[in-house]
Amino acid sequence: MAATRELSHVYPLGSRVNEAGRLEVGGCDALELAREHGTPAYVVAEDDLRARARAFQQALAARHDDFEVLFASKAFPCTAAYRLFAAEGLSCDVASGGELHMALAGGFEPARIYLHGNAKSEAELRQALEAGVGHVVIDNFDDVDRLERLVGPGNSQRVLVRVTPGIKPSTHDFVSTGHIDSKFGLELDDARAAIDRLRSSDRLELRGIHIHIGSQIFELGSFRRAIEAIAGLGEFPVYDLGGGLGVAYTAEDEPPSIEAYIEAKVAAAHEALGRERRLLIEPGRALVANAGVTLYTIETVKRGLSTYVGVDGGMSDNLRPMLYGSVYEAAIADRLDPGGELCQVAGKHCESGDVVVHDVHLHEPRPGDVLVTPATGAYGHAMANNYNGVPRPPVVFCRDGDARVVVRRETYDDLLSRDAG
Ligand SMILES: Cc1ncc(COP(=O)(O)O)c(C=O)c1O
Repeated sequence: MAATRELSHVYPLGSRVNEAGRLEVGGCDALELAREHGTPAYVVAEDDLRARARAFQQALAARHDDFEVLFASKAFPCTAAYRLFAAEGLSCDVASGGELHMALAGGFEPARIYLHGNAKSEAELRQALEAGVGHVVIDNFDDVDRLERLVGPGNSQRVLVRVTPGIKPSTHDFVSTGHIDSKFGLELDDARAAIDRLRSSDRLELRGIHIHIGSQIFELGSFRRAIEAIAGLGEFPVYDLGGGLGVAYTAEDEPPSIEAYIEAKVAAAHEALGRERRLLIEPGRALVANAGVTLYTIETVKRGLSTYVGVDGGMSDNLRPMLYGSVYEAAIADRLDPGGELCQVAGKHCESGDVVVHDVHLHEPRPGDVLVTPATGAYGHAMANNYNGVPRPPVVFCRDGDARVVVRRETYDDLLSRDAG
C-alpha cells in the first residue's frame, strides 16, 4: 500500500489520519462515527466553525473599528450552528421566515438579525417586525409598500437597500447575483428612486446599502468593482458588503484567504465609501463548508466501462453536483492512500445525474466501506430533501473526541408526519 496521504486543506481543521489509518474529524474516528450514528451522516468539526468565525472577526477588527460579521445562515441552517455562531458574537442573515424562526430558536438577539429575500411575503415581514429584527433588507418596491403599511404610523423599522451593482463575478451562473437583470436587488437607477422614497418615509429608517454579488468567488477584484459601483449612491452609515468568498472543494482549489478577502473588501470600502462607516460582511460558505464532511456506506461496486461505487445517499443529501456540476473529492475513510481505481461515486437516487463525485481514485472500494466526501458543510444539510423517500441525514458535531447529534436522522415515520388526509 502507498504511503499514508496527508489530508489536504479541504478537510476540517484538526482532521488527521489516526494511528489506525482512519480519518479522524474533531478527534472522532470516522468509522466509529458511522457505526454509532449510521450513514449517510453530516459530520461537523465544531472547532473549525469557531476558528473560521474568529478569523473573520479578527481580520475585520485588524482593519476597521465598526463592523459586524453576519452568519449567512442559508449555508447551514441548523439550530446548533445558529447557537454556536451567536455565542461567537456574530450577527445573522436570514432569507426567510423559516430561517428567522431557527435563528431566534438558536438564540440570536433579534436586533442582530437581518432579514433578506427577493420575494418576502407579508407574513414574513410581519413575523420580522413582531420579532423585532434589527434590519430588513429592501429588495424591491413591494417590500417598501408592505413594510410601510405594516410598520404603521408612529413606529419605525431600520432598513438597508439591496443594490445590484451590475458586476458579474467569475462563478457559476446560478450563484451569481449582482449582475444586470438579476432577480435580486435594485439596479442603480431604481436603487436611487428607492433611496429617495425611503429618505422621505416617516416609518422606515434607511441605514445603508447592501450588496452581494454571488458565491464561490475566487477573484477578489470583482468585490472591489462592486463596492466602487455603489459609491455614487450617496453617503450612508452602514454598508453590508455581502458574502461570496470561495472555498476549496478539492485539493487543487486555492481560494483567497479570509485575510485577503477582508483586506480586499475593507480597502475598497475605505477608498470608495469612506472610513467612518459600519461595515458588514455575510460569509456563509466560507464559514461552514470545510468544517463538514459526509460519511456514506458503499452499497455496491459495479465494474463495467466505468466503475460505479454506489453509496447510501446522493442528491438527497448533496444536491450541489447536480445543480451546479460541483466537483468534490472522495476517499475510503480507512484507506486514504493516494492512487487506486478510477471510480464514479453514484448516489442511490433514480436519476442518472445522481453522481456525487466523478472520476475519483479510490483504494479497493468494497461494499460496507465507509466513504467520505469532504467540504460538505455548506448547502448540504441546507438543501437536503426526501427524493425517493430517503430520510435526511443527521448532523453530528464533533469536538475533542466527543460526538453529539445536533440534528437527528429522519425516520420513515417522519416521511408520513405531514399526511393530512
Ligand atoms: C444576501 C446573501 N448574503 C450572503 C450570502 C452568503 O454567500 P456565501 O455563502 O457565498 O458566503 C448569500 C448567499 O447566496 C446571500 O444571498
